[in-house]
Amino acid sequence: MAFTLPKSDPKQRIAVRRFAGTRPLQAQLDAPLTVAHLTDQHFGRVTSDELQWAAAELTNEAQPDLTVLTGDYVAHSLDYLGLLTEVIGAIRGPKVAVLGNHDHWAGARQVRCALERAGVQVLMNEATVYSLRGQSLQLVGLDDAYTGHADTGRALATMDPSLPSLGLSHIAEEADRLWGAGVSLVLSGHTHSGQITVGGLHRFMLGKLAGHRYVHGLYGCRHGERAEGAVYVSAGIGASVFGLRVGERARPEVALFELGTSAEQGLEQAPHPGRRPSDRKEQQREEAVARKRRRRDRLARRASLLTLAED
Ligand SMILES: [Fe+2]
Repeated sequence: MAFTLPKSDPKQRIAVRRFAGTRPLQAQLDAPLTVAHLTDQHFGRVTSDELQWAAAELTNEAQPDLTVLTGDYVAHSLDYLGLLTEVIGAIRGPKVAVLGNHDHWAGARQVRCALERAGVQVLMNEATVYSLRGQSLQLVGLDDAYTGHADTGRALATMDPSLPSLGLSHIAEEADRLWGAGVSLVLSGHTHSGQITVGGLHRFMLGKLAGHRYVHGLYGCRHGERAEGAVYVSAGIGASVFGLRVGERARPEVALFELGTSAEQGLEQAPHPGRRPSDRKEQQREEAVARKRRRRDRLARRASLLTLAED
């Protein structure tokens, strides 16, 4: 008799985390709005198709008024853009996104087109207003700060400070600059929560060694008492290098925000002090970004030469 191992339901691997909005949003909205947040899907060979579909299914089950995506849709190549369009296109309702560092490294234009084919509005340092349940919600989307594409001033210049606003930024550290402009809640990703969170390893690796101020979870304050706003760093769905995730906080996640409801108590986390990366580290990071940009340009040139030769 053939023996087959029971196949685990990929939906059970994903944590669905729920949060209230901020006090300013509560004051500005007449009725609650549900926003689903997905990030770091990294469509590619490291992250299984099943996990991608499970995340989309869990999002649809929550019946959000809006779904927001905060970058890193690809890993290292553009080979999975078809799947990206298919999976994200299956998420019902309006969808708004910003790009991440991997999207810029692999090809921002192509990733943006794939997202648009999936019915997603991609914000690049700009604001847009959605009418949801008869109420306006403004989305302020920053382009990726890690690769130097974020322009907070430009994004803020396009926003209406009188509207209830939600900020989107792949890199959480940009949130501080949005709070002061009236964006009291910012959603972000990038860290994957460190992927190994046992024994606080993620806080050590990302907080102390890599110098990230925000590692995973909710930071700042939603009541306007200790800080001007809050930022949420999601663990994301996928990975670009290795898929291993160990620890409850490392689980892939779909986060749900009930904007306009009163904030739960006790979930804020003090920002990890971290430390500014050394000049050498910053220089290495800039060199790596330039190297990847040169490689991408080289590949694009080769592709256009091939197209010309074929013509
Ligand atoms: Fe990522």
